[in-house]
Amino acid sequence: MEKTIRRIAINTGGGDAPGLNAVIRAAVLSAVHRGWEVLGIRRGYASLLDTSTIIQLDANAVRGITHTGGTILGTTNKGDPFEYPVTLPGQPTTLVDRSDEVVENFRRLKIDALIAIGGDGSMRIANRFAAKGIPIVGVPKTIDNDLTGTVATFGFDTAVMVATDAIDRLHSTAEAHERVMVVEVMGRYAGWIALNSGVAGTADVILIPEIPFSIDHVCDKITDREAHGRRFAIVVVAEGASPVGGKMVVKGEEIGREVLLGGIGEFVAKEIAHRTGKETRTVVLGHIQRGGRPTTFDRLLALRFGSAAVRLIEEGTFNHMVALDPPVVLAVPLEVATSRMKTVPLDSDTVLTARDLGVSFGDAAPK
Ligand code: F6P
Repeated sequence: MEKTIRRIAINTGGGDAPGLNAVIRAAVLSAVHRGWEVLGIRRGYASLLDTSTIIQLDANAVRGITHTGGTILGTTNKGDPFEYPVTLPGQPTTLVDRSDEVVENFRRLKIDALIAIGGDGSMRIANRFAAKGIPIVGVPKTIDNDLTGTVATFGFDTAVMVATDAIDRLHSTAEAHERVMVVEVMGRYAGWIALNSGVAGTADVILIPEIPFSIDHVCDKITDREAHGRRFAIVVVAEGASPVGGKMVVKGEEIGREVLLGGIGEFVAKEIAHRTGKETRTVVLGHIQRGGRPTTFDRLLALRFGSAAVRLIEEGTFNHMVALDPPVVLAVPLEVATSRMKTVPLDSDTVLTARDLGVSFGDAAPK
């Protein structure tokens, strides 16, 4: 049912991803063209807890930001109002439910709808606010590409481009020194970045969370190359990859957020060096994959998502997330988008292609 829209708000949550500013620009201009007012909620939901930090977003505020990285609204991956970390002097941090304050301020400010731009954590929070009566439209962002319901999230293409470029560069130095280069990429519990950049960058071994690896199989691939005169190798490891029967390597834990993954690259490199005797180096790409300008694909997707979110609000479709289902952008219920994580299907065309190209996933390749 259509209702008259006068004022909407926008926020960005979770880790930043290239394209956030393009979504904001498209959403703001699309809203302004309809005569709506737009409020910028800063640092996730923080401005709905402290409304003095809200900013007005008009055409001027979003000028010249389509190609920029980061987010003009700021973001946090520790800002879930349902589990808000609070630290009082001299006391340990505790998690407090402040969601009612958010709802109260949302109503008091007479905001008609919220565009929540974020990854799976942000979509889950959006879904909980939808259940509390806030009309929400989600926009799927994450370099990890692990959100269900959309073929792609914006930010992913840029991360893959950065990782592929790094792998390309590592090839020449690996070959010059006859070394094994282990490249650790992000992606959390999904192997999309490792798979796509590894295949495009012609890695010899790709390790992803979806396929537990055996270090023996990894070393077999390297020694087999050596036997054929290829005295260097490129191993791409997703941060969430783990050996058969082993655990993911965790860098740290902080209250109010997910565990920080990282370190598997170093583990794999040490094992390879120890078992093959090859000189081995590790490169952790880290946040470089998230920084800087979005690719053309991500910019366009982000602009399409931002504008589609406003059209959903206009037609009264709330509690949905905009999603890419080529060639169209459509809406999927937040319930569906948050129902499960989108991981790499083991029979996916890209996995099959990699196997046909002779890439090892560190497993016994299916016959
Ligand atoms: O979800 C995006 C992501 O970059 C993951 O790939 C990574 O595990 C995590 O965020 C890193 O988080 P932080 O920015 O807090 O270091």
